[in-house]
Amino acid sequence: MPVKVAEYIEKITPYRPGKPISEVERELGIYDTVKMASNENPLGPSPKVIQAITEDLKYIHLYPDGSAYYLKHAIMKHLAKYHLSIEEVCVGNGSNEVIDVLIRALVTSQEEILISAQAFMVYELIAKAANIPVTLVPLRKDHHFDIDGYIERITDKTKMVALVNPNNPTGTYYTKKEFENLLSNVPERCVVLVDEAYREYVDAPDCPSALDYRKDFENLIVCRTFSKAFGMSGMRLGYAITTKQIGETYRKVREPFNTNELAQVAGIAALDDVDYVRRGVETNKKGKEFYYAEFRRLGLQFLPTQGNFILVHVGGGDNGGVECYQALLKQGVILRPVGNYGFPDWIRISIGLPDQNERCMKALEAYLREKGLVK
Ligand SMILES: Cc1ncc(COP(=O)(O)O)c(C=O)c1O
Repeated sequence: MPVKVAEYIEKITPYRPGKPISEVERELGIYDTVKMASNENPLGPSPKVIQAITEDLKYIHLYPDGSAYYLKHAIMKHLAKYHLSIEEVCVGNGSNEVIDVLIRALVTSQEEILISAQAFMVYELIAKAANIPVTLVPLRKDHHFDIDGYIERITDKTKMVALVNPNNPTGTYYTKKEFENLLSNVPERCVVLVDEAYREYVDAPDCPSALDYRKDFENLIVCRTFSKAFGMSGMRLGYAITTKQIGETYRKVREPFNTNELAQVAGIAALDDVDYVRRGVETNKKGKEFYYAEFRRLGLQFLPTQGNFILVHVGGGDNGGVECYQALLKQGVILRPVGNYGFPDWIRISIGLPDQNERCMKALEAYLREKGLVK
């Protein structure tokens, strides 16, 4: 007899990961595939991280330090100008887990979360799994976060206001002025969670770093990750900076060993490798300029990005993004169709190394010409 599952769980559509690259290559008879679909760091891991993990392997028979003491101190040093105390730092198995624990710890099913309709999907998934109602705020017509739309939708039940800056998948951002307006309109009983997974890539001077606003709004949470600029997606490590009280609440709900031994050691080494992050950001900047020039040459609409990915309009109707994805996959270039984010005829490209970007553009241009989607 099938086990009875709560209705709110039954209704969830599970996250469906893609097939392993080796399997895709085998099926399509291709090789040398380049994955530009998950906003990873194209430089590969930092050599300092590899060395640190290698030296630490001899300790993996032991449980990790459940308090992540040295890692938290490394994060505090990294963010020294904010004078953080260890109780204000939360770490977890990727920022995904940090966000999951925070939502479950802070919001009940009688309250509500406010999130953007076209931002990182995980918020909605987490809320649904905890039976927490979600109010979605559509992006503005220019694909930017609708801060006024957020403010208008705050109700007595709103407990958490979650924002992603810069946003995935659009790469757009909201300004300091807009953020200040939001903070002054959110009731004190709410928490504001800002996801800054792509913070290291930001170069727009008017894009706020939420940590600068800790004095302006007490219950602020800023989430960051080691998965992007620090090149550690596979290690799973993320963190949040918040108040001592929220930090304490987080520790009540998280699993005792939610940050594994190698991830802790890797995180410390990654924070120490300033040059690696700088090289990654520079590579990304050059990649952005390459794509901007190519898209302009072909007359394609695109969204200037503050992240390590770029959203481009490929046309072709309601299945245009998926068709583009499938065509490029056959050429060994994996991109991300984003119909699930409300962009059915756009495609998201994670910015790669120069030769990867050229290969991607060549395949994209050939596809668009064949379909008559560019002049
Ligand atoms: C906005 C945003 N937040 C969080 C994450 C997940 O980060 P992590 O790998 O730390 O779980 C991503 C990953 O793509 C993201 O785009």
